[in-house]
Amino acid sequence: MILPPKLKLLLFLSSQMAIFILFIHLYSYNFNSQNMKEEPNPTHMHVLVLSSWRSGSSFVGQLFAQHPDVFYLMEPAWHVWMTFTQSTAQRLHMAVRDLIRAVFLCDMSVFDAYMKPGPRKQSSLFQWYSSRALCSPPACNVLPQNETISQSDCRILCNQEPFEVVEKACHSHSHVVLKEVRFFNLQVLYPLLRDPSLNLHIVHLVRDPRAVFRSRERTTQDLMIDSHIVMGQDWQKLKKEDQPYYAMQVICQSQLEIYKAVQSLPKVLRQRYLLMRYEDLARDPLAQTARMYEYVGLKFLPQLQTWVYNITRGKGMGGHAFQTNARNALSVSQAWRWSLPYEKVSRLQKVCGNTMNLLGYHLATSEQEQKNLSLDLLSTWSPYQQIYQEG
Ligand SMILES: *[C@@H]1O[C@H](CO)[C@@H](O)[C@H](O)[C@H]1NC(C)=O
Ligand SMILES: *[C@@H]1O[C@H](CO)[C@@H](O)[C@H](O)[C@H]1NC(C)=O
Ligand SMILES: *[C@@H]1O[C@H](CO)[C@@H](O)[C@H](O)[C@H]1NC(C)=O
Repeated sequence: MILPPKLKLLLFLSSQMAIFILFIHLYSYNFNSQNMKEEPNPTHMHVLVLSSWRSGSSFVGQLFAQHPDVFYLMEPAWHVWMTFTQSTAQRLHMAVRDLIRAVFLCDMSVFDAYMKPGPRKQSSLFQWYSSRALCSPPACNVLPQNETISQSDCRILCNQEPFEVVEKACHSHSHVVLKEVRFFNLQVLYPLLRDPSLNLHIVHLVRDPRAVFRSRERTTQDLMIDSHIVMGQDWQKLKKEDQPYYAMQVICQSQLEIYKAVQSLPKVLRQRYLLMRYEDLARDPLAQTARMYEYVGLKFLPQLQTWVYNITRGKGMGGHAFQTNARNALSVSQAWRWSLPYEKVSRLQKVCGNTMNLLGYHLATSEQEQKNLSLDLLSTWSPYQQIYQEG
């Protein structure tokens, strides 16, 4: 069949057109799928409770852990530090960062590097029973999902589950909350704040360094390995009596730097940060818990409100600092004022003064001021409000 030249031209043009359209489609498809790879929509909310030792972070961790939407782990990076006890906080920073990223994404294979080879159980995780999620279905089927099991019962009844249940439990909750005391600057976390597969929100929990110091004095032995890592190579050169002050200096400096670094972040990232002073939480647990929940998009369910009300009044949670009645919850957070000699307070204020000024802890300029409980040493201004105003 012979086609007229005009028709030939038309056929040629339309075939070219079809190829062109096909290319456009393929190109835009590739482009879209690339976009999708670069910006997956994180389905989970990831919350890092960033704090230091003896700052009430276990309590704040529990406030999150008790929520039925939360998968919580307490200090997963403990495993990193206990594997490299001769190292320094700086050297372990990246390993800690990468570990929490994997855990946020429910990839628990990351623990392979820090646990003995061979089969392991959910109970191989540090303080695993502090996670309500690991004590209820699908991680442990002793009780139905809507009922809570006490930590001591969980320890006995759920400790034989295979490690795989940890990932299963993680995937089945909308919020993954990790508490860490092993970060000493914010810069190491920048890649996680910008990571499109994460929806990271930071709750930075701080406490009056004088109260932290007093609490550390009472747990020196327990904190020994950690303190050596915090002090780095320097600790052996220090006199024994100087070590607690040096460790506090490092800790205070890091809290200060984290707080300052936030203020130079772009506004969109600054909104991923919430500062919480332990003392404010002790003075008004319900209001401050509501603030944290709202920030990370959790409902403050009625049973949780009762629970928070109860534990901050000494019902439940044995052995915790909050095991006290409402009247003296405030006094407990001020215990350092009558139990620390002024000489120590004064020395500590020299190494932590800048941090205290910035976070709103007034310095005691004499023993009389320290012991005078009608003098409030907590500033009423809220550092977090200041951050938002500046923005
Ligand atoms: C838990 O759920 C079951 C079945 O849905 C119900 O029978 C039980 O009363 C619930 N328990 C609590 C404490 O809400
Ligand atoms: C709170 O305490 C009251 C009185 O001791 C108790 O009956 C109630 O079950 C507690 N509630 C929670 C959620 O712990
Ligand atoms: C304690 O502090 C209060 C409030 O500043 C002050 O009025 C009072 O005089 C002080 N008491 C002593 C004994 O210093």
